[in-house]
Amino acid sequence: MSGCSLAGRHVVISAGPTYEDLDPVRFLGNRSSGKMGFAIAAAAAARGARVSLIAGPVTLPTPAAGTGSLHRIDVRSAAQMHAAVIGALPADVYIGAAAVADYTPARVAEEKIKKGSGSEGLTLQLVRTRDILAELAGHPRRPELVVGFAAETEDVERYARGKLAAKRLDLIAANRVGVAGSGFESDDNALVIYGADLALPLGPASKHELAGQLLDLICQRLSVAATGTGSAR
Ligand code: C5P
Repeated sequence: MSGCSLAGRHVVISAGPTYEDLDPVRFLGNRSSGKMGFAIAAAAAARGARVSLIAGPVTLPTPAAGTGSLHRIDVRSAAQMHAAVIGALPADVYIGAAAVADYTPARVAEEKIKKGSGSEGLTLQLVRTRDILAELAGHPRRPELVVGFAAETEDVERYARGKLAAKRLDLIAANRVGVAGSGFESDDNALVIYGADLALPLGPASKHELAGQLLDLICQRLSVAATGTGSAR
């Protein structure tokens, strides 16, 4: 794969879903396949980066190390993903491609939860997880570039720009989920990359092509930041 060089750069990427356990046999999860994050990891390694790939429960093979290196850390829950991402710092770039659970059960039952004898429902108490992306963007060891993803079912630009500002990100890659040929399980996707000064549509294309295009944009922004010739981000 060609493209810009990320040699000497440490790129941390989160990918896939998280699973939040309810009891020893059940969990709350989501439909993220990890394909986008794994494609970004492959493209970053192919550009010479040292890649730390923090992967939720997915069935994907570890990408090749390319001309760089690739270290995969498998996690299950949002809390484990948080710890692994923070543990991977310092980094030049963080790309949060994982679909991290926003809520987790207030407690994990030690034994399998039994159904009652009647027809009454079951109420689960959930608590918020920590927002890894927002925390990294405000972290004392903040990576030079912090990039988020926003999967939306409606009003994509408004929600994506809201997250860009609220989480203090440099870039956010937004996609519409729930439409054929893009989103979670598909091999293809269409993204719009928003920055304070940017709205760049990419695709529809394969997640591998999109990963390369996203990394080329990241390279440009990094070199601007590194040479101090401007603050385009
Ligand atoms: O706010 P929302 O969950 O839609 O934002 C999605 C972005 O935030 C993704 O980049 C995801 O990886 C990140 N995120 C996170 N920690 C959470 C929730 C979301 O890092 N607890």
